[in-house]
Order: sequence, then structure tokens, then C-alpha cells
Amino acid sequence: MTAQKWTPDSWRAKPIRQVPEYDDPKAAEAAEAQLRRYPPLVFAGEARNLKAALAKIAAGEAFLLQGGDCAESFAEFHPNNIRDMFRVLLQMAVVLTFAAALPVIKVGRMAGQFAKPRSDNTETQNGVTLPAYRGDMVNGMDFTPESRRPDPQRLIQGYNQSAATLNLLRAFAQGGYADLHKVHQWNLGFIADSPLFHRYEDIASRIDEALAFMAACGLTSETTPQIRGTDFYTSHEALLLNYEQAMTRIDSTTGDSYDTSAHLLWVGDRTRQLDGAHLEFLRGIHNPVAFKAGPSLKPDEMLKIIDILNPANEAGRLCVIARMGADKVEAGLPPLIRAVKREGRKVVWVCDPMHGNTIKSSTGYKTRHVDRIMTEVRGFFAVHRAEGTHAGGVHFEMTGQDVTECIGGAQAITEANLQDRYHTHCDPRLNAKQVLELAFLLAEILRNDRTADSARGTARAVAARS
Ligand code: PEP
Ligand code: CO
Repeated sequence: MTAQKWTPDSWRAKPIRQVPEYDDPKAAEAAEAQLRRYPPLVFAGEARNLKAALAKIAAGEAFLLQGGDCAESFAEFHPNNIRDMFRVLLQMAVVLTFAAALPVIKVGRMAGQFAKPRSDNTETQNGVTLPAYRGDMVNGMDFTPESRRPDPQRLIQGYNQSAATLNLLRAFAQGGYADLHKVHQWNLGFIADSPLFHRYEDIASRIDEALAFMAACGLTSETTPQIRGTDFYTSHEALLLNYEQAMTRIDSTTGDSYDTSAHLLWVGDRTRQLDGAHLEFLRGIHNPVAFKAGPSLKPDEMLKIIDILNPANEAGRLCVIARMGADKVEAGLPPLIRAVKREGRKVVWVCDPMHGNTIKSSTGYKTRHVDRIMTEVRGFFAVHRAEGTHAGGVHFEMTGQDVTECIGGAQAITEANLQDRYHTHCDPRLNAKQVLELAFLLAEILRNDRTADSARGTARAVAARS
């Protein structure tokens, strides 16, 4: 079967879900035309760099850390929030780099993560029914008809906020803020305050030693750009295809189309229909892309998605973000992994332990248990170990702020605490402390895996000599 020709607007002929209906199509067209004249947010060469980094992960030589808000918001747009998110991602990355002894590729769910798929198209409160809130790039959260009306000018505001966010992220990544020594000092501060101090102390003091050793060898912030700064990439769900199309440009060096709204784009679990608009759009852009794999996804269907998104089987082009749920990952993931192995497809396996573990608290809040999140992460790693495949990375909904949205962790947030600082615009996020605890626990898994691998290597070497 030969694929139909792809164009940036070929998705418009396909069935589409989860996008707003604008009551003034002319206003939407005008906003899209305006966006087409705006500068790209990322450069195609950067997307290719990320693809090369992801290809290393596919080969088992690196690890992915992807995280950020479930939904960014216009109201919470503040440099401190961007700084705190960036900071905690770097803190996690240092711990994971040390534990895995692999480069950690950092990708924010940031600078464009504004649009949300929803279970229901409408919301009813006290007998009044209005369109559901779909993220700040579509409509407002307030429960009034004016606020819930999809407004295409929000696309422009989303672009502007993304541009300013990315500008600050680039400055942080290369301007000295991301210095490895500084990040390690922040981690020491976190550990000193943590009730789980003893658990983390060992890794932290080993990192201390490693930094001292490197400095003694002449590898310092002054001599080594990799210590002074870092690469940081952006990603979001490609949901609003009119926005993504407007941001898609031909790269002058290759002649290929890139969606310049972010380095990596993914399609969600609710919009990955084989004949649907979202896969159609994603297949034609040359960025690295991903899709979410929930428990309903069957191996055959998954292989068809892989064929659509990565027909050339290019390493680094495609991530599968599994979001099975803590009690489903051990049964649900192996059939998918085996199908990919059997067909020789190159993918990066990523664990999203958030979206399969959302519950409603008795007090009515959407929440998640830190323990269930960790259980899914452990399950994901255990499955990969058993299958002999590389657990490529993790995907978290998180914030650098001290919110109370997920239950548990060393702070022991309870159902009753949720109301204290529940600020999310969509799903409950891990707060800075909870997500750092997870990073340290994940580090234990990575180090155990590595110790087991090197023990096996030693055993093989001994056997070969005798
Ligand atoms: C999300 O990542 O916020 C999301 C909606 O995920 P999923 O498509 O996996 O449900
Ligand atoms: Co979410």
C-alpha cells in the first residue's frame, strides 16, 4: 500500500477528535495566518540533535527524563515557576546520570503544553452545562459561558508564552545556571531537609567524590562546557493541529518539514486512531515523535501506529510512552515489547507512571498516590529487565512548586491535605520534593541493574577464561 501524499494540512481531510469548534472560523484562520508569519520556536537542527540523542537511547546508551506540567497556564506564567521546574529537572538528571552511568537527555513538558484532551465535551455544574475546559490555549477555566468559549486569540497568547519560556530555558541551560556543581549543591540542600536523609546520603557523597576527582583531573566549569551547561529540549502533546500546522516550516538545509513549535511532539492515548487526523499530521513532520500507549492498545494496532509514524525504522524517530497503570504494567507491557522485538522495530520505551494511576479522592480531588507511581516505574523496569530490553526513560507530571496534589511521599501528604495547595489546571502533579524522592528511588533501581549487569559481565569473563 502506498501512503497518500502528506502535506502540512492533509490531516484536515481525516476524522479528528478532541479539538475545539470555533464559532468564528474566520477569526481562527486569521490567528493561524498570524502564526505562520511568526518566527519558529525551535530550529530543525536542534530537533535532529534530539533525534540523534534518542537514537542513543534506542541503542541502550542513554536515558530520557521528560517532565513538566500536565497543562501550562497563562495565570501561572512567572519566571520563578519556569526556573523552579528547570531546576528540579536538572537535579533529577544529575542523580540519574550518576546512577545509570549514562547521559540523561532532558526534555521539558514545557513551552507549549497548553491543550488538553478531555473525557467529556461538556461540564455540568448545578444544572448548567458548558463546554469543557480544554487548556488555556483553547478556552478559560472559569465556569462561565464567556470563559468557556474557544477563542483563537489564545493560540497567539500560547505562542508568545512559549517563546518567552523557551527564551528563559535557553538562557538557564547555557548561561551558567545549570552548572553541575550548583545542581549538586541544590541536591545536598534537598537531602539535608529530607526525612529520608540516610537513603540518599550514599549517592550524594559518591557524586561529591566524583566531582572532586574530575576537578583534580582538570575537568571544571571553566574548562568543560558540559559541566557548565546542558542541552535542554521541549515537548508537548500535538493536539491543536491548526496551531501545529501553522508552526510547521520547511527546513532550508534539508527541504524537510519540521514542526517548529517544539523539539518533540507526541500524540495522546485518546487521539491515536489509525485513520485519524493526529497520526496523519505527525507522520509527515521530521521531528522526533511519540505516542502514548495505554492498557487498551493491542500489539497489532501498536505495530500499525509504528508503521505510520516510523516507516523507515529510523532509530530516535519514535518513542512509545507506556502509561498502563501500576497494576497493569507487568501484564500489559510485555506483549507490546515482544511485538516490537519480533518485528525488529527501533523505538525508545518510556514510562509515564502518571496517567494510568489517576483516582478521585474521597474529598473530590483528582489525585495520584506516590506509591502507585513508584510501583509502575518499578514494574516498567522489571519488565524490561526480564525481556532484555532497555528501559529508555521516564515521563512525569511535576512542578517545582510545593503543591499538594499527589498523596504520599516523605512529606506524607494525605487526602485531607490536598485542599491546601491544589493548583493544577488539569492532572495532579508531583511536587518538587516528591519527584526528587522518586529520582533517588529510581537511582537505586538503575544502580542495582548496573551492578547486576557488571556482575554478569564479570561472571562471563571468568567463564571465558576458565
Ligand atoms: C497527558 O499526557 O497529559 C495525557 C492526557 O496523557 P494520555 O494521552 O496518556 O492520557
Ligand atoms: Co495529564
